[in-house]
Amino acid sequence: MSAMLAGKRVVVSAGPTYEDIDPVRFIGNRSSGKMGFALATAAAARGAEVVLVAGPVQLPAPTGVLRIDVRSAAQMRTAVLAALPADLYIGAAAVADYAPRSIAKGKMKKTGATLTLELVRTPDILAEVAADPRRPAMVVGFAAETDDVEHYARGKLEKKKLDLIAANRVGVPGSGFECDDNALSVYWHGGSRELGPLPKTQLAEALLDLVIARMQAASAPG
Ligand code: PMT
Repeated sequence: MSAMLAGKRVVVSAGPTYEDIDPVRFIGNRSSGKMGFALATAAAARGAEVVLVAGPVQLPAPTGVLRIDVRSAAQMRTAVLAALPADLYIGAAAVADYAPRSIAKGKMKKTGATLTLELVRTPDILAEVAADPRRPAMVVGFAAETDDVEHYARGKLEKKKLDLIAANRVGVPGSGFECDDNALSVYWHGGSRELGPLPKTQLAEALLDLVIARMQAASAPG
């Protein structure tokens, strides 16, 4: 039987963020939201009170979940921080790392052969949640990597002060964004586990089982 989350508050981020350039153009990362929505669905089915902060995606709201739609990284940050305190945060969103310094009010005209945009770093929502005084007992990040997966994922685990990180390889068929299946290499201090490949709905259940086992291990006396 699946481990339960009754009485727990879970905040999940999902999907991309869109950083507007002007009223018709934006930059963003690739994400359908399927992985994050599967996690929110699975957590709600286990009895958790779930807040799902979703970037622009074409997915129906999971039953029994409070869904908050956002567009930009700044909006996602505001919604995620407003959803704290929580027992568990899962950052499955593909947050854009950079946003245009300013958004043009009107549609920018094509005046030259090249265009230079000045981009500024977006807030690191995951690191902020992990550093927040209301820090959830368990902060789970995702890492989308094309190569050297363990090295980069463990680097994010340390730098962002996470409890656990789920790394998926992107840029290969059948895994990562915009498909129904995925495979995860999950790392925490002193351990790791391979999950999948599986449909994202089943992978979400397997990841939650692991997360709950880690939560129980962390709260066990001694
Ligand atoms: O949505 P799907 O199509 O189902 O695809 C799922 C997925 C591949 C998008 C998902 O499984 C995934 O890997 N999400 C994280 C993608 C990502 O942005 O990875 P990253 O390595 O750039 O970021 C690391 C972590 O920091 C992530 O938890 C991310 O949510 C978080 N982050 C990143 C930047 C930022 N400004 N704020 C953040 O919170």
